[in-house]
Amino acid sequence: MIDQIQRLGEKALAAVESATGVSVLEEIRISILGKKGELSECLRGLAQLSALERPKVGAAANEWKTKIETALSAKKALFDEQALAETLKRETIDLTLPARRHRLGALHPITQTTRRIVEIFSKLGFDLMTGPEVETDYMCFEAVNIPADHPARDMQDTFFLGTGVLLRTQTTSIQTRALRSQSYPVRIICPGAVYRNDHDATHSPMFHQVEGLFVDRGVKMSDLKGTLEFFAREIFGEKVGIRLRPSYFPFVEPGAEVDVSCFRCAGKDASCRVCKGTGWLEILGAGMVHPRLLELAGYPADEVSGFAFGMGIDRIAMILHEISDLRLMFSGESRFVSQFSSP
Ligand code: DAH
Repeated sequence: MIDQIQRLGEKALAAVESATGVSVLEEIRISILGKKGELSECLRGLAQLSALERPKVGAAANEWKTKIETALSAKKALFDEQALAETLKRETIDLTLPARRHRLGALHPITQTTRRIVEIFSKLGFDLMTGPEVETDYMCFEAVNIPADHPARDMQDTFFLGTGVLLRTQTTSIQTRALRSQSYPVRIICPGAVYRNDHDATHSPMFHQVEGLFVDRGVKMSDLKGTLEFFAREIFGEKVGIRLRPSYFPFVEPGAEVDVSCFRCAGKDASCRVCKGTGWLEILGAGMVHPRLLELAGYPADEVSGFAFGMGIDRIAMILHEISDLRLMFSGESRFVSQFSSP
């Protein structure tokens, strides 16, 4: 019987040695050491042995049992170690791989330009003021000296929303609100969206303007010129100059159109893509506030005077960034906007 146990033991050790995985080891354990395993079966025969033989056979069986168990657990430890090494290898993080690109958003060029303009005028003490886009005919036209039958209305193709209510065509409407809500001195800068029924490469039914207004005792045309000169240099660079050409706007007298000298070529490049060779960029309308606006608002028109100006924000942004088609601005295309992220 001892021989039989030994053969069994040797067979078991050989099986453990050539096992290919943890599950195989478990099968071996059950088939040899399990309740119905070969060794257990073998030991059931102990009872028939003589008292002399029984302890010897028992000792041999125990010895083999320990050997097999030791071999099983050693082999299992080896498999566990291999499995762990493989997992570690598989789960290693390769720190040299390039990271996934993180896309940063950018402020729209119109937002950037609006902020810049407001910042420049706030250095001169102008306060930010806004007004509603849905406006009354009175605020947008009547109160700024454009009565119902005035030909100037033709220049601003208006979207009417109902009787006496419209989408404002100009931020000049905010002048009206300011003059009716505060007393002088009034010094405000008013950006916002405006609407006109017009659509092509340089016109959009919705665009942006910024209006400036300064009313106080003794405000002169030279104050207007100095203020606009300061603005032009801040936004287009130290070297630019401005010129005023007489023009007509119902809410100012005298009125002017204001040009800035080309910041790119200063008039020296006949094929300049910024000024188209003219040397000048037409950027805004301005003038001395018409006394009628002051009277309508209840100001003492003989004591106070003021200047006002208005310009297209989108146009300034297009000039600054050399954008040729206004429609790009409103395309909703994030690749377009992302070009204007600051470094
Ligand atoms: N509201 C004018 C427009 O939309 C721009 C303008 C011109 C505003 C002269 C002014 C101004 O305040 O004085 O074309």
